[in-house]
Amino acid sequence: MQLYDTIGATYAATRHTEPRIAAQVWAALRDARTVLNVGAGTGSYEPPGRDVIAVEPSAVMRAQRPAGAAPCVAAVAESLPFQDQSFDAAMAFATIHHWRDPIAGLREMRRAARRVVVFTIDASEIGWRSFWLTRDYLPEFADLLARLPSLTEMAGAIGARVEPVPIPWDCADGFFEAYWRRPEAYLDERVRRGVSVWARVGPQAEQRAVRSLRADLVSGRWAERNRDLAGLDAAELGLRLLVA
Ligand SMILES: C[S@@+](CC[C@H](N)C(=O)[O-])C[C@H]1O[C@@H](n2cnc3c(N)ncnc32)[C@H](O)[C@@H]1O
Repeated sequence: MQLYDTIGATYAATRHTEPRIAAQVWAALRDARTVLNVGAGTGSYEPPGRDVIAVEPSAVMRAQRPAGAAPCVAAVAESLPFQDQSFDAAMAFATIHHWRDPIAGLREMRRAARRVVVFTIDASEIGWRSFWLTRDYLPEFADLLARLPSLTEMAGAIGARVEPVPIPWDCADGFFEAYWRRPEAYLDERVRRGVSVWARVGPQAEQRAVRSLRADLVSGRWAERNRDLAGLDAAELGLRLLVA
């Protein structure tokens, strides 16, 4: 059973293409004509004007792909059903933390494509540790990241260079870090259901974090502690692009 067959039914409600991040991913794909999108979900970051094939193991996610989206194969990153070097590029966006074996999946991408572009988080990075949601309300996020290989290991597995990905204050894709300057969003059940972190930490931690954040928003404590965010247009939260 795929996790997203359980939690993915409302994914498309809050998870959309963020154009500034998409532009960075598409630039890293350079002139690739054929692109494999691994862990593709609803296809938010599939580049237009190129021949894309998607790989997505969850039937619930495949069912939410819009009409006219790229053809999608039911498979997993760790065992890609494609011959060596059959794509100009392979990309993976916000998915490798779900893979049973991230390093094996990255090696598979490297095998199947001449270029690899991956959006992920640097688990050892100070950026996410200083994110107020993790720091003050949901320390359990650290336990989830603990099982992810370090960015150095992941980059080393495919010989990638690393680019920082700043997260705009009005990020259109509702991933975990997206609402760093819009804290009220995390009180919205619909927003939380679009992010696997909340399901993975469990209902007790989720309810405690939400209760505590709500109280701090009402009392003004959140605003006081996070005064420095008000003037920022983009934040460094440990999100990275691996490009090989
Ligand atoms: C957070 S979603 C990201 C979807 C899409 N890339 C996006 O940016 O909207 C994570 C996706 O990874 C998929 N996934 C989980 N395990 C996987 C694996 N072993 N190989 C490939 N994809 C996997 C999930 O089913 C889910 O659709």
